Amino acid sequence: MNLILLGPPGAGKGTQAKRLETAFGLKQLSTGDMLRSAVREGTEVGLKAKAVMDAGELVSDEIMVRMIADRIDQPDCRNGFILDGFPRTVAQAESLDAMLARKGLMLDAVIQMAVDDEALVKRVIGRFTCASCGAGYNDFFHRPKVEGVCDVCGGTKFDRRADDTEETVRARLQLFHDQTAPILPYYQERGLLKAVDGMASMDEVFSQIVACLPQEKLA
Ligand code: AP5
Repeated sequence: MNLILLGPPGAGKGTQAKRLETAFGLKQLSTGDMLRSAVREGTEVGLKAKAVMDAGELVSDEIMVRMIADRIDQPDCRNGFILDGFPRTVAQAESLDAMLARKGLMLDAVIQMAVDDEALVKRVIGRFTCASCGAGYNDFFHRPKVEGVCDVCGGTKFDRRADDTEETVRARLQLFHDQTAPILPYYQERGLLKAVDGMASMDEVFSQIVACLPQEKLA
């Protein structure tokens, strides 16, 4: 089963992609995570992407399409994948269609996660993760039980993303409305688009997504 999670920054794409990965053995392909690891490793792509990401702008379609085409070929995608953060422009959506057709693959659903803009800003600027185990927290909604100590592993160091400032989130949101939202009619016309309420609780959003998936492929 191959899925796309489509939504603005902070909609919960990463949160739900991890849950779907665990529940159904699909592989989460987060273009944001791939770019952040390229930045950490100092690769050519990482060097090009860093300033673009820090400004909340989009990395070029050419780089992103090549990155996903290579990644989908890896053996861990054989059971299916969840695209988290890709496609982000109509050009990326068209390239993805052509790429999947060449590989003999198809999409099963495109899940649109709708969330109110002001709620998104709070979710993103409040977000932090444990540097040891990656457990996610939020200043506003989900702090560790003991201040400064990870509930899961006891770690005491936490990371925040460089692009999670209010100014950058607002720029990313604007880009979503200008460049990514136009993809929605593209998938609507192909009968693939399903909408869920991203403002609901994480468990409720997960249930809504599962209800949108082709049930015969969930067994
Ligand atoms: P990327 O990493 O993809 O960032 P994003 O799309 O802005 O999405 P986020 O990771 O910020 O949010 P999310 O929807 O995953 O939310 P999360 O689950 O963490 O991209 C970063 C940058 O890379 C881009 O700006 C761009 O420069 C570049 N890039 C990436 N892909 C590209 C592409 N294809 N083309 C060009 N450039 C590209 O949740 C957020 C918070 O909310 C968390 O604290 C979470 O705990 C909380 N939360 C989640 N769900 C709920 C809920 N239901 N209720 C309450 N809180 C919730």
